[in-house]
Amino acid sequence: SQEELDEIYAFAVNLGKEAGRMLLNAAKLRFGNNKREENAHVEKDNAVDLVTQTDEDVEAYIKSQITLKYPSHKSVLPVEFIGEETYSKGASRDYLINDDPTWCVDPLDGTVNYIHLFPMFCVSIGFIVKNKAMIGVIHAPFLNQLFSACSGRGAWLNETQSLPLVRNPIPPMPAKAPSGCVFSCEWGKDRRDLPDSNLHRKVESFMNMAAEVGGRDGRGGMVHGMRCLGSATLDLAYTAMGSFDIWWEGGCWEWDVAAGIAILQEAGGLVTTANPPDDPANAPIENVRLGSRLYLAIRPAGASATESGRQ
Ligand code: IPD
Repeated sequence: SQEELDEIYAFAVNLGKEAGRMLLNAAKLRFGNNKREENAHVEKDNAVDLVTQTDEDVEAYIKSQITLKYPSHKSVLPVEFIGEETYSKGASRDYLINDDPTWCVDPLDGTVNYIHLFPMFCVSIGFIVKNKAMIGVIHAPFLNQLFSACSGRGAWLNETQSLPLVRNPIPPMPAKAPSGCVFSCEWGKDRRDLPDSNLHRKVESFMNMAAEVGGRDGRGGMVHGMRCLGSATLDLAYTAMGSFDIWWEGGCWEWDVAAGIAILQEAGGLVTTANPPDDPANAPIENVRLGSRLYLAIRPAGASATESGRQ
């Protein structure tokens, strides 16, 4: 019921606040005395897939709080899951998200940013029921930004500003989109530099967007900019705000996107799995299925489709 959901939402917001404080304190300890510990992270799948002590500590805290309050709920957490043998065997992840109430949490999204002290890192807490993202809380403590949403209750920035109204009103999508748009796409962690590799395709799509789209007059493309924040969940939050028009990535985990999807959808944006039609992880836009690795998100439509857009 909405009442139950509201209670879980309040719990998730408090959890996000506390976990964000933990991240900030850990960052202060790590960098405060100029003692950047180069070895204080370990590699998971490859040299860019990293996990720090902070990921583990914050995950343990979050897990203990959820277990205490909601012992019957399932949780899907990266350190725990990736540590499992199932991951290295490449087993299907279908069992991760089913109809059960499930917490899908990234204790530290943007781990590379955190390690390099680039402020785009956050805790990302998603709550899923029947494969639908119902609640999302994203707290980026260095930026002092807390995004939150609960199905039926709107999407909020720092609990005071309603997300689509944050720019009052959100401007419409540029009339000649993708000209005039800002796109975001992540590099992900696949660094195999083969012609058909993920990385190769992404770099190529960046180039095509920036250089070709709208560029037939010979003056080059008119996409305003391309961004790579290093945090998939923050990409979704900024798409919910309309700062980004479109975001896409291939290679996400459930915990990278669950909270962001809840926030984006509640703000009126759209998200789909960018999978081929015959892929079982494909889903209609209104019922995006977590468990995909490819996502495409589009921001809320904005005030009026007839205006000429941003200049
Ligand atoms: C990663 C970040 C990154 C994205 C990867 C994610 P992590 O999460 O969101 O932007 O490209 O797909 O795995 O490892 O920093 O928690």
